[in-house]
Formats: sequence, structure tokens, C-alpha cells
Amino acid sequence: MEIILLCVFGVLFVTLAAMVLGKSRGGTCPPGPSGIPFFGQAFSLSVNSAHLQFSEWARQFGDIFMFSMFGTKVVVLNSPDLIKKAFAGKELALKLSDRPPSFIGHYVANGYKDILFRRYDELCSKFKALTLKAMYTVRDENQDFESIQMAEINDYVRNIADNDGDFTGKRLEDDDPALQAIASFDEVGNELINPAVHLVFKVAPWIRYLPGYYGNLYRKVMTSKESLRNDLVNTLKSQLQDDSVSLLAELFKLQTTETWLTDDHVLGVVMDLINTSTLTSRGVLSGILFLLVHHQQVQTRIRQEIDDVIGQEKQPTADDMYRMPFTYACILETLRYQSHLALTATHTNAEENIEIEGFRPTRFLQEDGSLLTETSELRHSYFMPFGVGFRSCMGVKTAYSRMFLFVTALLRNHELLPPSSGSLPSSDPRELAPGTVLQAPDFTCRVVSR
Ligand code: HEM
Repeated sequence: MEIILLCVFGVLFVTLAAMVLGKSRGGTCPPGPSGIPFFGQAFSLSVNSAHLQFSEWARQFGDIFMFSMFGTKVVVLNSPDLIKKAFAGKELALKLSDRPPSFIGHYVANGYKDILFRRYDELCSKFKALTLKAMYTVRDENQDFESIQMAEINDYVRNIADNDGDFTGKRLEDDDPALQAIASFDEVGNELINPAVHLVFKVAPWIRYLPGYYGNLYRKVMTSKESLRNDLVNTLKSQLQDDSVSLLAELFKLQTTETWLTDDHVLGVVMDLINTSTLTSRGVLSGILFLLVHHQQVQTRIRQEIDDVIGQEKQPTADDMYRMPFTYACILETLRYQSHLALTATHTNAEENIEIEGFRPTRFLQEDGSLLTETSELRHSYFMPFGVGFRSCMGVKTAYSRMFLFVTALLRNHELLPPSSGSLPSSDPRELAPGTVLQAPDFTCRVVSR
């Protein structure tokens, strides 16, 4: 089996994993690289591209290995079976679903009043279930949901071609203070969540009071957070009407029965969803665009499918994806091949005969051209870009429909061609721009109308 990645758990969580998994292996700790006393691998591991180092160690030490950093043991799992056993198995899943204590959870999320950074206690499980229900209610009951999403995507496609989530239930204008607050939190929040930066805050939380880079970043994060509170959460709450259908409106309505659900929790959801959805969406959308420029024949086949199933008259809808197996397979293959969240999910498999290198969407198709079913070995056992178990992604549906609508809206009227001068960077996934979410490298392409 060739492993690209794996699962890494943060500090406390990791120690727990080491103990639990170590115990189940007869009390011995997993093998791994030795490092200098106390610091362990702290100075030799690049936090932004740790997944490449882990792939190397996986080849050396096997399916489960352990290393230490600043006295904390980190366990890395690198087989789909082990990952499922740890996170979705009856015996261990609940024990291994906590998140480690974090600077962001403590200081930014008002003492873990959110989902992403909270340990998996009873309240976290309830909070996640209620928020998911609210997300689905909005999708099902807000008639405008799909057209709002499509308007955003068309706007984006127009921007690309002309280059010479929805919290509120309505489309935000560019100069809306709420949109500016979201954009600002996205920017500074992503900087803070970068593991290398977050580690400094975690080890020395007092650094937030000092002048200089860290203090300034913290102050910017807190200012954006207060803008989100005032311009988004408080404003929407003051305008709430009985027939409002939006995620925040659903959460505000729940406050009448769920007395623990304070405005800080609602703000926590907003910050979580900005943190989890914008950077990932940017990664997967720019990633698929990049691969399409590299693979002209894949574009041609998708365009053929668009012509056959959607045509030129109607707008694509999220449901069209299920009638377009090749386009769907292309989305799955992009998630597998680029493995954007390399450190919390795997896109690998145990079969010698399925290559990890090479972008080949047809691996997700059956011989008759239909999509592999969800119960097929590849999709069921080895494909887990959204994580598994209690902490798995809350945005799976949104992510799929966003990728599908973006690809179809872009390719139905345009061809993506390599730049006329210069060359495209390599599409090797090991050369993606490093970070919490791997991103396509900077590239240029020509967008030509059909
Ligand atoms: C293709 C894009 C995306 C990918 C690849 C992705 C992947 C992931 C992964 C791997 C996790 C961690 C699972 C774990 O810890 O075991 C996660 C968590 C999460 N994702 Fe996504 N995600 C994507 C888009 C989104 C979107 C659009 C949203 C919001 C609408 C979202 C919301 C969340 C939340 C809230 C969590 C934390 C859940 C928890 O802590 O219990 N994600 N995602």
C-alpha cells in the first residue's frame, strides 16, 4: 500500500491515542523516529508540509508510528482500516473524538463555545446535531438557496472569464459590513489557524499582549470577531422575523428551548464555518481548475456530459450531479488526488494495483460508465477526504454541490487552456502549496469562450 496520508491528532488527543492504541497492541508504544530529548522532532518537522515527512516515516515505520514534540507524543495513523477502527469503531471512537485544548478555542471561541475546537462532550454532540439540522432546514426550506448559490458561482465564473454558505438567507452586497467582517475574519483567522503560528500562541499565550507580529495578529482577530458579532450576529438577531429562513435565524429560534445556546455559541458557529468552509472551498475549487487546465481531455468529456444532460438553456442544479457520473467522478478524483486536508484524512488505499500518482477520474467509474457505488471498496473503505466518525465534516453536501456547480458553470461556456507563454506548474500533489489546507500553486491559464 502506498500512503499519502494519514491522520494526525493534536496534543492531548494524541497522547490518549497513544495510550489506547498502545494498550490494544499489548502495551508497547508504536515505533517512530527518535529525536532530541524533550524537543523531539520540534526543530526537524516543517508544520506546513508535515504530510510529506509523514509519508516518508510511514514507509519506514509502517501503519502506525509515534514521535514527540515538546514532550508531547503524537501518534500518526496511516492505514484506512486503523483510521476507521480508531474513529468509527465501537471500542475507540468516543475516546478518540476529542480535540486538544487550543489557543483559538480558549481565547477566540469564548471558552470553547463552538463545535470545531470543543472536546466531544455531550454538549458538543448536541450542538453539532442541532446545527446540522438547521443547515438542512435552510437548504430545504429557503426557496432562494440554490439561486443565491448559483448567482455567486456565476459571478465568480464571470470574474474568471472577464479577467481579461450562506449565513443570512440572502445575498450580501459587496459593501455590506457583514460581508466585510466575514472576509476580514477569513483572512486573519486563517493566519492564526496555521499550525506554526498557533503553536507559538499555545506555548506562550501571553505573547498576545506584546507589540509585534503575534500581538498585532491577535488584536486583528479580536477586532474582526467583534465586527462579526455586531455586524452579523446582532444585526440579524435584531431583524429576525417569524418567517426568516437562514442558519442564524434557525439557531436564534432554537434559543427559546435550548437555554445553553447563547449568542456566543451562535458566533462560535459563524467563526467555525468561516474557518472550515472558505479555505477548503478555495483549495478544492482552485485545485480542480488547475487539474482541468492540465487535463484537456477530461474537460472535453465533462463538456460533452454538460451538453447531453444540462444543455445550454437551463442553469445547472446540484441534483444534476447524480445524472453526470463522469463529472462526479472527476470531483471524487480531485479530492482523492490532491488530498487537500492531508493531515486529517486519507485518500489512499491498500491495493498495490491502484496507483496514488496520476489523475484518473475513471477509477471511480464502473465498466458501463456509471459511478462506483458508495459501498464499493474504493469509496467505502479507502476514500475519506471529509474524515470519519463523530468529528467528520459538516459541510460534505455543500462541498460537493459547490464543486459541481462551479465546474459545470465554468465549462458549459468556456474552455480552459494552458497559458500562451510560460508553462503550468507541475500537477504532482506533493508540490501543492503547503498549509493547513493544501492549495493549487499560483498559475495562469487562458479562459476562452466556446
Ligand atoms: C471540499 C471541502 C472540504 C473538505 C475536504 C473538508 C474536510 C474536513 C475534514 C477532513 C474535517 C475533519 C474531520 C475530523 O476531524 O475527523 C472537517 C471538519 C469540519 N468541516 Fe469540513 N471540509 C470541507 C468543506 C467544509 C464546508 C464547506 C463546511 C461548512 C459548511 C465545513 C465544515 C466543517 C466543520 C464545522 C468541521 C468540524 C466538525 C467537528 O469538529 O466536529 N467543511 N472537514
